[in-house]
Amino acid sequence: MSDDPDGADTSDDAGTLGYQQARWTDSDQRYEPLLSEKDTTEVEVGGDDSPLPDDLTRDSLELPALSEPELARHYTRLSQMNYGVESGPFPLGSCTMKYNPKFTEDVAAIPDGAVHPDRPDDSVQGTLAVMAGLQDYLGRIGGMDAVTLQPPAGAAGEYAGILIAKAYHEANGEDRDEIVVPDTAHGTNFASAALAGYDVVELPSAEDGRVDLDALDAAVGEDTAALMLTNPNTLGLFERDIETIAGIVHDAGGLLYYDGANLNALLGRARPGDMGFDIMHYNVHKTFATPHGGGGPGAGPVGVKSELAPFLPSPHVRERPEGSGYERYEPEHSVGKVHGFEGNWLVLIKAYAYIARLGDPGLADASAKAVLNANYLATQLDYEVPFGPFHHEFVASAGEQDAADVAKRMLDYGVHPPTTKWPETVGEALMTEPTEIEGKRTLDQLAAAFDAVAGEDDTTLDAAPTETSARRIDQVAAARTPRLSWQALDE
Ligand SMILES: Cc1ncc(COP(=O)(O)O)c(C=O)c1O
Repeated sequence: MSDDPDGADTSDDAGTLGYQQARWTDSDQRYEPLLSEKDTTEVEVGGDDSPLPDDLTRDSLELPALSEPELARHYTRLSQMNYGVESGPFPLGSCTMKYNPKFTEDVAAIPDGAVHPDRPDDSVQGTLAVMAGLQDYLGRIGGMDAVTLQPPAGAAGEYAGILIAKAYHEANGEDRDEIVVPDTAHGTNFASAALAGYDVVELPSAEDGRVDLDALDAAVGEDTAALMLTNPNTLGLFERDIETIAGIVHDAGGLLYYDGANLNALLGRARPGDMGFDIMHYNVHKTFATPHGGGGPGAGPVGVKSELAPFLPSPHVRERPEGSGYERYEPEHSVGKVHGFEGNWLVLIKAYAYIARLGDPGLADASAKAVLNANYLATQLDYEVPFGPFHHEFVASAGEQDAADVAKRMLDYGVHPPTTKWPETVGEALMTEPTEIEGKRTLDQLAAAFDAVAGEDDTTLDAAPTETSARRIDQVAAARTPRLSWQALDE
């Protein structure tokens, strides 16, 4: 690390970060107590006048009784025991953990932006104009003719997109019951197809990590409703044969679905719509710097080619045919609602602000830097990085080490680990996506952390993390028996 007191980078080697996470506990060594455990007061709420049955109302509530500084400290402490993109690098492959610029929060906080969704169209023309504007931006970015903003996450967008494909085939009198998904795809692709009632046909990858054209030819036929694909794929490799792939699927009467999780690699340079994709979702929280989805609450707009537009979810926003403002309407063969109203508006408005601020040159610049950063970092690591050259992300192999242990140990060096153990086509996968937000110095610190861990023994890895507020947690129990409320904690 630099010896320069001003912090300037005076060497080529940025070194590993020094790191120790805060650990706030009460006198019983319990983590920072909940607000309701600190100090409470009984507040009368006057349930007497309520029209609800007596057993659903109460006369008083126990509420936290804290001063503003106590409240501010509580949340600051929690943030100090956490790790986020504002703490340090966060190269969580496929998740595109960008920094969310604060000006977009200001835009979302404009009071006039938070209008009640049931208000009549004439009284919310500004809001509808911004929605139509975002639909237009996204359509142009993806090369799609119409866009719905309604789905609340990428996975929800996939499901909505597959429902649209299904409705389209049914309207054409076609009974197709299979969706083809490559083995490198995200788990949500398989889940969305299955949830929509399809049989999922898993497509093996070719040796170069891309779609195996012979296998695709064999898998696709008159039962194929769609192929779901992301390009670049989850190994960060561009599907160079995308036109041939589109031809195979279309010739069989199927549709091509684009998983937009990797759109950050293409922004302003190439468009799924021009590659032959018919339907796509946009993970606005990955590509357009809004808080992350993880199934929601994010936003996963869906774009379609014109022949699929009549099937979009309802309500949909459009410019009034007579050109006097905007309106909500139900598309002719709409698949119905996939979420309330027009979607998670306060997330979407941040995406609108981000796109408007960057403009076409800014978006193209973002993807160029994301690709440059991934390729630079890949060349700096001691771990083997099969495949390449890459787009916005790459997958290294932890080799003899367990990728999950590597991930835990990286936290001790003050960096967030990459995504691990996926895709399974690379053993002990470390799927890494630095994004465009990092500069060379941070990338070098990240590489130094990877390399430090690569040289460590099993005992050290097994004991990790040691510098975080919580040591290694039981992830399976956390996922299967989550305690999501303070009542559950009491139980
Ligand atoms: C390739 C890919 N597809 C789909 C999704 C699902 O997106 P979301 O988290 O918004 O539901 C993800 C999420 O990480 C992803 O990486």
